[in-house]
Amino acid sequence: MPQLSPLGQKFPNIFLGRKGNRKALYTKSLVPGEPVYGEELLRDGKSEYRSWDPSRSKLAAAIMKGISQIGVREGDYVLYLGAASGTTVSHVADIVGKRGLVFAVDMAYRTMRDLLFMAEKRPTVVPILCDANDTKELARRVCLADFVYMDVAQKDQVRIFLKNCDLFLKDEGFAVLCVKARSIDVTKKPKQLYRTVLKELEQRITVVDHRELDPFEKDHALFVVKRSARR
Ligand SMILES: C[S@@+](CC[C@H](N)C(=O)[O-])C[C@H]1O[C@@H](n2cnc3c(N)ncnc32)[C@H](O)[C@@H]1O
Repeated sequence: MPQLSPLGQKFPNIFLGRKGNRKALYTKSLVPGEPVYGEELLRDGKSEYRSWDPSRSKLAAAIMKGISQIGVREGDYVLYLGAASGTTVSHVADIVGKRGLVFAVDMAYRTMRDLLFMAEKRPTVVPILCDANDTKELARRVCLADFVYMDVAQKDQVRIFLKNCDLFLKDEGFAVLCVKARSIDVTKKPKQLYRTVLKELEQRITVVDHRELDPFEKDHALFVVKRSARR
């Protein structure tokens, strides 16, 4: 097996290896022997590691782009908005491990089917068919989260993100917002748009770090924020 090294305390259960002469990311698999999207599996004794493709997952892209932390920890309860078929959800489930839980929310029936198949093998993933904007309905189905992740590629994604952080993110909890520039405004240059998003976030929450995700995800950026204690 090629040598893997842990990325460090701020990136639990995430490992760095090499594919040829390029760096590659892996997460320690929660369910050995069960790939999700045809990713490479590496065995080391009883443990197994799943390759994490940065061109298929914005969180992996941000790590490859050198983000200082992603905020999610082992044992965290996660509210994941915009789960799609569960590619990134499955790696987040690896990161939080057996003691963690991932509420995986999406509003599309089509992707929910694939998400259900993935979750069948992963008891810590709870698929929820719901609009991320319908926080009244969400409140009936989820509990407070240590970590909120949102990747819904919608025009008013910053507003929806902050609303969910207000309602569901624990004090001192971290959250990640993935921004697709073209979903917000096709007429604006992505960099200009990211500056606007940064200002909007900073007015309400502490922005810990952010990265543009090119070349892995063109015209996308990812923001990591932290909620301070409620007064
Ligand atoms: C870019 S994909 C997410 C990819 C996924 N995060 C990953 O990395 O594997 C965006 C997803 O958000 C979902 N979505 C869009 N608007 C939503 C909303 N308001 N509530 C819930 N899901 C939404 C779409 O159905 C789609 O599956």
